[in-house]
Amino acid sequence: MRSLCIRNVRAVDANRDGICDIFMQEGRIAAIGTAIAATADIEIDGTGLTAMPGLFDMHVHFRDPGQTHKEDLQSGTAAALAGGVTGVLCMPNTAPPMDNADTVREFLSRAAHCGIHVYQTGCLTQNMQGKALADYDALQTAGVTALSDDGKPVADTALMEQAMIQAAERGIPVVSHCEDLNIINGGIINQGEISVRLGVKGMDRTSEDSITAREIALAKKNHVPIHICHVSTRGSMDAIRRAKAEGVAVTCETAPHYFMLTDEKLLSRDANYRMNPPLRTADDVKAMIEGILDGTVDCIITDHAPHAPHEKADFIKAPNGVVGLETSLAATLTALYHTGLVSLQRIVAMMYNRPRSILHLPAAGIAEGADADLILVDTEKEWVVDPTKLHSKSHNTAFQGMTLKGKNQITIVGGVIRYADDRFAAYL
Ligand code: DOR
Ligand code: ZN
Ligand code: ZN
Repeated sequence: MRSLCIRNVRAVDANRDGICDIFMQEGRIAAIGTAIAATADIEIDGTGLTAMPGLFDMHVHFRDPGQTHKEDLQSGTAAALAGGVTGVLCMPNTAPPMDNADTVREFLSRAAHCGIHVYQTGCLTQNMQGKALADYDALQTAGVTALSDDGKPVADTALMEQAMIQAAERGIPVVSHCEDLNIINGGIINQGEISVRLGVKGMDRTSEDSITAREIALAKKNHVPIHICHVSTRGSMDAIRRAKAEGVAVTCETAPHYFMLTDEKLLSRDANYRMNPPLRTADDVKAMIEGILDGTVDCIITDHAPHAPHEKADFIKAPNGVVGLETSLAATLTALYHTGLVSLQRIVAMMYNRPRSILHLPAAGIAEGADADLILVDTEKEWVVDPTKLHSKSHNTAFQGMTLKGKNQITIVGGVIRYADDRFAAYL
């Protein structure tokens, strides 16, 4: 394996923010210093670039197996690499779903060679039907990292309580998609002024707020952890903040579309702005930012949910979901860093340290001896999101046409350059 040295780069992780050289050898970071004397096989001038640990997205849908016309392991990996994401946690709503050891094993054995670090959730309930718990011992032996029925809620509160207790006994994190389908009642966008103007059925925010409150109550009563997926409402954010203050073991995530976009985007009747939970109001966007600023938000995720163009063509009938892996860092830098709200170190915490720690994965960051998984980012580069240029099989981005500031330039996994933007294409 060829050695690699990045010179004069700004390195940012939980423990550092400063200019240095990073020398990588045999898949690990061998040395960090100033003016390292040794010459590497590949030398990269990192002047003007920022090195960060390879990002971790703990909420993606790779559609593999079963819906590989939308995405598969290979295309999902390509999207992740382009976005600077070197580790992902895949959701279990595949076909068949990840409710059994064979399906999990088959996927993880293919994923072992895909070029990034892929982790898999097992289903909370058999066939994601919310009727009976899946076999957690079998799923754990097969290698799942967390449990979830994401894509669907677990409607039965008693069953969810059992799920959380049994998962906690085994030390497996539970990540919950908080939604009450009876309240949703066929709604397709946030219920409010915009849904009334468009004359389409709305999704009442009580759907999310009530199940978030339920999960918190279950976690509190049983002294077990819960991770709340894709928070989108002020009500949920406030409930999580209060629970954290009380010492409940609750953590949460939100996505760039929830802290950057409102349901006004839906006036275009473009299904690429439809996801679940839906885009909400300006006040909810404000609540997401407040949650990020005061530490209520642990992680930024994408809920990368690819759907094919023909599936997204009809505004009313289209499935929910947007891709996000290739825009998450850029969107986050644009909304949080370039506005002066959040430091790069806090962004690294939300996109690397916190998700990994919630999932009990090590997070050594940029340190001597650590895995050489890092990204080189041009934080100042402005670019326009062109859906046709995405590496994902699907192009259903809610950031289409937006100018974002900050772009991943090079992704290194295990000391090997796996992705390079045009400017650095010669290194591939
Ligand atoms: O927007 C969404 N898309 N929300 C979900 O809960 C599921 C996901 C998907 O699988 O498409
Ligand atoms: Zn979900
Ligand atoms: Zn999801």
